[in-house]
Amino acid sequence: MPEGPELWQAVDGFIAGHLLAPDAALEAALGAGEAAGLPPIGVAPNQGKLLHLLVALAGARRVLEVGTLAGYSTIWMARALPPGGRLVSLEVDDGHARIARDNLAAAGLAETVEVRVGPALESLDAMIASGEAPFDLVFLDADKEHNADYVERSLLLTGPGRVIVVDNVVRGGAVLDGSSTDAAVRGTRRLFEYLAGEPRLSATAVQTVGAKGHDGFVLARVLG
Ligand code: SAH
Ligand code: DHB
Ligand code: MG
Repeated sequence: MPEGPELWQAVDGFIAGHLLAPDAALEAALGAGEAAGLPPIGVAPNQGKLLHLLVALAGARRVLEVGTLAGYSTIWMARALPPGGRLVSLEVDDGHARIARDNLAAAGLAETVEVRVGPALESLDAMIASGEAPFDLVFLDADKEHNADYVERSLLLTGPGRVIVVDNVVRGGAVLDGSSTDAAVRGTRRLFEYLAGEPRLSATAVQTVGAKGHDGFVLARVLG
């Protein structure tokens, strides 16, 4: 038996082998991202399926994503939407957005998903100011230093009973380091402090191990 990260990777392979059907569009999206030199930092396949299940369980018709990359997590979530459902994904990098749009079109999701380019904080504030219709589920997966701000904005773009998921909140345990100067670690610690003091949310976090190492996600429910 392998140990540590090799074991986690092998178990992810076991899970995917049993529970995830091979999928040409998802594999093509990963391949296109890799070919374009994008970093392999999308969610793992079994995490993508978790997002897919959360969208379905929430009965979501409108999903907001922050951090598109090549659109891998986007495809997983968009495929759980009912007919007429919509996903808006915010991405700062125009090159990433172009690759994602191609991948989404190849997955048959061009009409379902809109990728908006710009710094997410600006895009979110513009959406709030223009009275964007509320979202049923928000997936935050962009720069980690702004996650508390993204959750705060998400409260203005969702409603009671709706769901907020935040990726990468453990990062190999680095979240424990209160003296870290790393902007992502500091941002993640600020996220936890914000969540602890935010009465409009009921939140937890779950650690994960797998193909993407030791990390974790926040799951939060917006209260009435
Ligand atoms: N959700 C994707 C992975 C996203 S990786 C998946 O699982 O498949 C993080 C993405 O966030 C990158 O594409 C990066 O360009 C983008 N990003 C970083 N800072 C951002 C910002 N300020 N606003 C919007 N997107 C940002
Ligand atoms: C990074 C970002 C992610 O969203 C992720 O899942 C893993 C790594 C990163 O910026 O390094
Ligand atoms: Mg992530």
